[in-house]
Amino acid sequence: MSRFHALIPAAGSGSRMGGERPKQYLELNGVPLIAHALSALAREPRVDRLVVVLSPDDAWWDNYDWSAWQERLQVLRCGGAARAGTVLNGLEAMAGWCAADDWVLVHDAARPCLPAGALGRLLDIAAHDPVGGLLAVPVADTLKRADPDCRVEVTVPRAGLWQAQTPQMFRHGMLRDALCAAASDMTDEASAIEQLGLRPKLVESDSRNLKVTYPQDLRLASLILEHLHD
Ligand code: CTP
Ligand code: MG
Repeated sequence: MSRFHALIPAAGSGSRMGGERPKQYLELNGVPLIAHALSALAREPRVDRLVVVLSPDDAWWDNYDWSAWQERLQVLRCGGAARAGTVLNGLEAMAGWCAADDWVLVHDAARPCLPAGALGRLLDIAAHDPVGGLLAVPVADTLKRADPDCRVEVTVPRAGLWQAQTPQMFRHGMLRDALCAAASDMTDEASAIEQLGLRPKLVESDSRNLKVTYPQDLRLASLILEHLHD
């Protein structure tokens, strides 16, 4: 039986958020942002290990108490310059104990409001898929492509367009091969898998699973968390 592991890349600096503190450590409802991501993943009993990948010079992690996840948590300090490098380094470090056909769920440290139902659905659906899959949301707004003067060049039909979220779930061996072959600026794992000519399954999620990117997103995440388990 293949196992399921979560890999949480947390080596970014949060440049769009601004400020001194990397955004994964910003306080949200009393605990750092990344603690919410870990809680959401840990609530799913099928997830075996939680692997956090930090920057080698992270000076924040040790300031907090992580004992709630002690047995399941593994902390690696091998983050790369870009997200894809962080994930690949994490996968390489897992290779000693993780089977090539184990599933790895890559989840942003900056997504604190992952609904349990969406995570469960991803596991149910993607585990029976030959490629794997990712949470995503059908695009709701009308889309415009801008010209260099910020004028509308064209309206892009939104039919069939989805916004990718995380977790993104692929087999350890396949994802490692895909990221080894991919350019280092890929912003998600599915893109690397697609470059192998494979087609990841889109599993419907919803807008509560937002990525905290800009300062105003923190307040929104706080409000969503208040009602996430209703
Ligand atoms: N990430 C990472 N290693 C990097 C860059 C990003 O592990 N070299 C992680 C971030 O810590 C975050 C996730 O990838 O958990 C999603 O990235 P993003 O939201 O872009 O975070 P940052 O890169 O930190 O933010 P920004 O792009 O605004 O600098
Ligand atoms: Mg980034």
